[in-house]
Amino acid sequence: MNSAAPHTSIPVLTIDGPSGSGKGTISRLVSQQLGWHYLDSGALYRAVGVAAGWADLDLADPAALVRCAFDTKVGFRDDPSGELRVLVNGVDATDELRTETAGAAASAIAAIPEVRSALKDRQRAFRQAPGLVADGRDMGTVIFPDAPFKVFLTASAEERAERRYKQLKDKGVSVNLDGLLREILARDARDASRAVAPLRPADDAVRIDTTGLGIDAVVERVLQLVTP
Ligand code: C5P
Repeated sequence: MNSAAPHTSIPVLTIDGPSGSGKGTISRLVSQQLGWHYLDSGALYRAVGVAAGWADLDLADPAALVRCAFDTKVGFRDDPSGELRVLVNGVDATDELRTETAGAAASAIAAIPEVRSALKDRQRAFRQAPGLVADGRDMGTVIFPDAPFKVFLTASAEERAERRYKQLKDKGVSVNLDGLLREILARDARDASRAVAPLRPADDAVRIDTTGLGIDAVVERVLQLVTP
């Protein structure tokens, strides 16, 4: 049974793409402008990865990770400055979730088909009136294949690494640009080559290459798709 069925009249804008393509920033701004809900699906995978780390689970033990995916409670709330905070089992884990370690753990567990199934209904439950902007890797292909609006954002790996470098530096985290580029390429390769829900644009997605484009320009192009 398709658990999305009761909600299919509610519009969804899916924004998929590789890490560092600007999905998070763009999706959030677009959802605010439209007054729609926002789903950061990557945060769910990261949360499971972080919870698995807290419980000292072995990333090579799929059964334990699947249980963890079912058991981990993930909550989202806006802080007063408008930033999205993520609670994992009631603990604010926003900063820990953003680290490359959490990203790599998320990418490893996201390759387990049963983990993906465990998170499916939770993602579809975000489809609430008046609409949803869903950010991830398989939003347009697997989770909301019937979404009326689909975008696939890309950018060169170098530019994505630089954006990530700036973000982390601004937060006072010391990182190495070459190392970041290598991690981004490794994560892209794993996300694109996995057997289940690999990173790829939906056939009906509009592709936008954000290399050299500012945030406002991308937001405007995405908004034009929804409200031409
Ligand atoms: O988008 P973000 O970088 O937070 O995602 C972290 C990881 O979670 C990705 O590298 C990917 O492996 C996984 N992911 C996924 N499907 C999604 C969202 C994220 O497999 N819809």
